[in-house]
Amino acid sequence: MPTYTLLVNGRRRSVEAAANTPLLWVLRDSLGLTGTKFGCGIAQCGACTVHLGGEAVRSCVLPVTAVGTKPITTIEGLSPTSTHRAQKAWIAEDVPQCGYCQSGQIMAAAALLSRTPQPSDADIDAAMTNICRCGTYQRIRAAIHRAAKDGGA
Ligand code: FES
Ligand code: FES
Repeated sequence: MPTYTLLVNGRRRSVEAAANTPLLWVLRDSLGLTGTKFGCGIAQCGACTVHLGGEAVRSCVLPVTAVGTKPITTIEGLSPTSTHRAQKAWIAEDVPQCGYCQSGQIMAAAALLSRTPQPSDADIDAAMTNICRCGTYQRIRAAIHRAAKDGGA
């Protein structure tokens, strides 16, 4: 199997994988970064959201060959101390219920905040297409507004 060198959470990592392996499985199975979740496998739910070059992407449908040299950030690397403003706002608003979708939600929110520091409700609705089976959408919206007020990275 070919070897790929990936820049994951600021560290260069070498992984062996078949060319069509989705990035999600490289992260979870090869690198042990299990904060990124599998939901649908067809780019619909967003549980697998990570950042690629700062953009939110659905890693379940991204072949490892398509990553190239772009940096990857997973929920484990969003903040070294879990204090990204989105993470702090998520705690303050008590967003999660079962929690399964939440790492993907936070990664989507962090990407939104980095490109739109003060998102409107419409911006949030347009960007946050991740599914939450527990229906935490109102708290997600409140947390994004709280994080926007908090400012920072
Ligand atoms: S697992 Fe990737 S979008 Fe659902
Ligand atoms: S918190 Fe349960 S699926 Fe979102």
